Amino acid sequence: MSSFPTQAGGVPILVMKEGSNRSRGREAQHSNITAAKVVAESVRSSLGPKGMDKMLVDNFGDVTITSDGRTILDEMDIQHPAAKMLVEVAKTQDNEAGDGTTSAVIIAGELLGKAEDLIDKDIHPTIIIDGYRKAAEKALETLEKIAITIDPKSTDYLKKAATTAMGSKIVAEYKDYLADLAVKAMLAVAEKEDGGFKADVDDVKVEKKTGESLKDTSLINGIVLDKEIVHSGMQKRIENAKIALIDASLEIEKTEMDAKISIESPDQIEAFLKEEETMIKDMVNKILASGANVVVCQKGIDDMAQHFLARKGIVAIRRAKKSDMEKLARATGGKIVSSLNDISPSDLGYAALVEERRIGDDKMTFVEGCKNPKAVTILIRAGTERMNAEAERSIHDALCVVRDLIREPKIVAGGSAPEMEMAGVLRKYAQKMPGREQLAVQIYADALESITITLAENAGLDPIDIISELRSRHEKGETWAGIEVLSGKVQDMSKANIYEPLSVKKQIIKSATEAATMILKIDDVIASEKSKGPPPGAGGGMGGMGGMGGMGGMGGYPGME
Ligand SMILES: Nc1ncnc2c1ncn2[C@@H]1O[C@H](COP(=O)(O)OP(=O)(O)OP(=O)(O)O)[C@@H](O)[C@H]1O
Ligand SMILES: [Mg+2]
Repeated sequence: MSSFPTQAGGVPILVMKEGSNRSRGREAQHSNITAAKVVAESVRSSLGPKGMDKMLVDNFGDVTITSDGRTILDEMDIQHPAAKMLVEVAKTQDNEAGDGTTSAVIIAGELLGKAEDLIDKDIHPTIIIDGYRKAAEKALETLEKIAITIDPKSTDYLKKAATTAMGSKIVAEYKDYLADLAVKAMLAVAEKEDGGFKADVDDVKVEKKTGESLKDTSLINGIVLDKEIVHSGMQKRIENAKIALIDASLEIEKTEMDAKISIESPDQIEAFLKEEETMIKDMVNKILASGANVVVCQKGIDDMAQHFLARKGIVAIRRAKKSDMEKLARATGGKIVSSLNDISPSDLGYAALVEERRIGDDKMTFVEGCKNPKAVTILIRAGTERMNAEAERSIHDALCVVRDLIREPKIVAGGSAPEMEMAGVLRKYAQKMPGREQLAVQIYADALESITITLAENAGLDPIDIISELRSRHEKGETWAGIEVLSGKVQDMSKANIYEPLSVKKQIIKSATEAATMILKIDDVIASEKSKGPPPGAGGGMGGMGGMGGMGGMGGYPGME
């Protein structure tokens, strides 16, 4: 099976390098599907509030404990190209919607596994692909139909959705408290935009320092910098702060080239030093003239400049991150200036208070009490580093969910109610379809029900009873019937206050279908000599990757990366 030998006039022609691997047809499909299924299987047990967590140890021995789908797959060192495509599904889902990564991967795995059964019955993959596409369209239509439109500023629904997103994380014990912070933070930074609202999770800075408990996590109406005030002679607390945001160094520039100055007398040394001092004083005076009493500098501030600033009663922070500078500008209403010559009073930002505080073992500077800040900070204070990291990931999911709802204020219930509704609609839809596509639509419905099965299994409940009860309830028109896994009851999920954004569910359908159909289309895997290890995949059908945002790196031959 190596290197494509072809006969031409009795002379073998090698099209590819000797040692290249190729697998075709059923063999290639089987290898790809199996690999993708294994990946889906690996995240299955972490779905839902009763799902288990994973402990991941990297090459350096660093440990991550999480139940977040994307993080699990990111940390696993996956080699197989088709399996990598499922990792990409999680990434796309995370980038587009911020939640629902585990669900998307599970559904993609199910779609592939079930397709294989049909392929074994001699149904051609293209028929399955067509069926899947139609099913996805119908499923999306159904979601739109059942979704409830909400007021994007109604804290009530936003909070319920954020609480649901947090409910399936390790930090679930504090879900109400943390969800409340996420909603307040996101609403603070949301802005009106033609007819709707825009919101960006990047405007919420998430800082973390180990502390006593997650309950000490707080929302700051401004920005917290992981920096201390630069000079001991400066005040540690300034009210009515007028803040200059400077992207220039407050030090004497060193020349790029080696330069020599010959000094012949002590007077000249003195004059030289005096000159430096004058230049620094000049910089400080410009800042003073603008009316600033706080300086946040993206570059360095040398000792002499610190000394003069302190003498003039100006508080300074140096080497702030670029991202922090941008957030400070949005929070305080200030402008970042890159030359001290340009600084004017109108460039200054405002905060009611700038204060250095001891947080845990470190000193941090709080810029707070901003007027109508367009960037805010959540400061996480879990007891351990690992809990802090997982809390950050969970808060990220909650922020994304709130953002999704502010952008597209439509909501569906959770606990697999929408999946059951879509499955019911698809089964009816299939009956009207001709021929073999019908089978593909039916198995699409089964794949959606795998979410119910997995939620139930992870909670130690009997999936068979639950599925049959839910099917019959949906048949009777109970759109929001789902499984509440904490109580173990089949019920109206909107009464259980389990809500999710429509956009998360839509993205799950899109990402899972796209990945499954892409993998099904591949019938030829050509791997270069370098790729060693597990059976190679990818190759053939790669042309169709366009729509998959972020699938770029899927060239996927392990050895070539
Ligand atoms: N109390 C609950 N009862 C039943 N189902 C719930 C409950 N809370 C959340 N769910 C469901 O759990 C699923 C979400 O689980 P989870 O957060 O583990 O995975 P995900 O959102 O797909 O992926 P990730 O959060 O890892 O990106 C959703 O289907 C949601 O409706
Ligand atoms: Mg989730």
